[in-house]
Amino acid sequence: MNPHPSLFLRAAWGENTPRAPLWLMRQAGRYLPEYRAIKARASFWEMVRTPELAAEITLQPLRRFPLDAAILFSDIMTPLPAMGLEVAFNPGPVVAEPVRTQAQIEALHLPEAEAIAPFVAQAIRLVRRELPPQVALIGFAGAPLTLAAYLVQGAGSKDYEVFRAFLHSEPGLAEHLLEKLSELTLRYLRLQAQAGAQALQVFDTWAGLLDEALYRRFGLPYNRRILKGLAGLGLPRIYLAVGAAHLYPAMAELPCEVLSVDWRTPLNRLRPLFPGRTLQGNLDPSVLLAPPATIAREARRVLEAGLGGAHIFNLGHGLLRTTPPEHVAFLVETVQQFPRKELVDGTP
Ligand code: CP3
Repeated sequence: MNPHPSLFLRAAWGENTPRAPLWLMRQAGRYLPEYRAIKARASFWEMVRTPELAAEITLQPLRRFPLDAAILFSDIMTPLPAMGLEVAFNPGPVVAEPVRTQAQIEALHLPEAEAIAPFVAQAIRLVRRELPPQVALIGFAGAPLTLAAYLVQGAGSKDYEVFRAFLHSEPGLAEHLLEKLSELTLRYLRLQAQAGAQALQVFDTWAGLLDEALYRRFGLPYNRRILKGLAGLGLPRIYLAVGAAHLYPAMAELPCEVLSVDWRTPLNRLRPLFPGRTLQGNLDPSVLLAPPATIAREARRVLEAGLGGAHIFNLGHGLLRTTPPEHVAFLVETVQQFPRKELVDGTP
């Protein structure tokens, strides 16, 4: 059988590829002048809800850089209005009425997949039509815990203390909310798969706020339910948490093919905990603000740490808005020229 034309998908399925495929979290967005030009005319929700605009923004970074995957332009908050919630962006998510009572949780709707975000399905179809077979399209959703952090706190926060207090004082309500968010997320990711997404990433940005006991109660079971529910689709599943090195032993229990690692832990240190799985990451996004010689040195350090198994090169978290696009171009070139083949062949 011929190998799949997408190097990204081959690495996601565990192949130790001759070159590390790469894409960058937040590769579509504010560091690109062509994104800011669209943003000057349309609100964030308009961009997300207009399939032609979302598709165009998704493709913008691919026109500049020979990346191995595209990620749909959208947001983790995108499916929530279908539950009856009002969400604004300023610039981060703001929930008009934070969700903290039983009545509010009971009132949340659980629409069928097609009704959650038909505009997302359409954007995926438009993007897939434009991409060559060697470039994969990644769909995504927020993890229930991370979505709940925004819904209960009401907006982004450094420590999410209202949310953490809620977990401690109202554990039953928290579980009810997380159950509903899990079912919504599962339906939403299946919709994206059906529309043509070729890999699915779950963003659990705020998991690291919890200690292991709390993560095992309010994070792990819901992530497991979603990832298990996606197993039959035949798409690789990627899980990302940030600032969560204390949770890696728990995360090792998650059914996913790829673990996305932030910049704080070297990839080679995680190999023994995740045998046979693909690691994605993990350049510190702030390195892209440094001069090219530093970018090359740090990127090679990541690539060397990734040699022990399947590796998808990425950042440890999203691109910073002040990143010069030329630095991204330089990074892509550096990663694609790294002599992984010789180094991989030379290792057992
Ligand atoms: O290129 C891509 O990665 C795809 C697009 C994407 C966006 N948001 C676009 C966006 C993705 C994958 C997300 C996910 C997302 N959104 C996460 C998880 C990933 C992470 O960064 O940890 C989270 C926590 C959010 C919530 C969110 N949405 C925040 C905190 C913000 C504001 C600040 C910021 O980081 O940009 C948003 C708004 C948002 N989402 C913007 C973009 C391009 C900025 C909107 C603008 O242009 O003003």
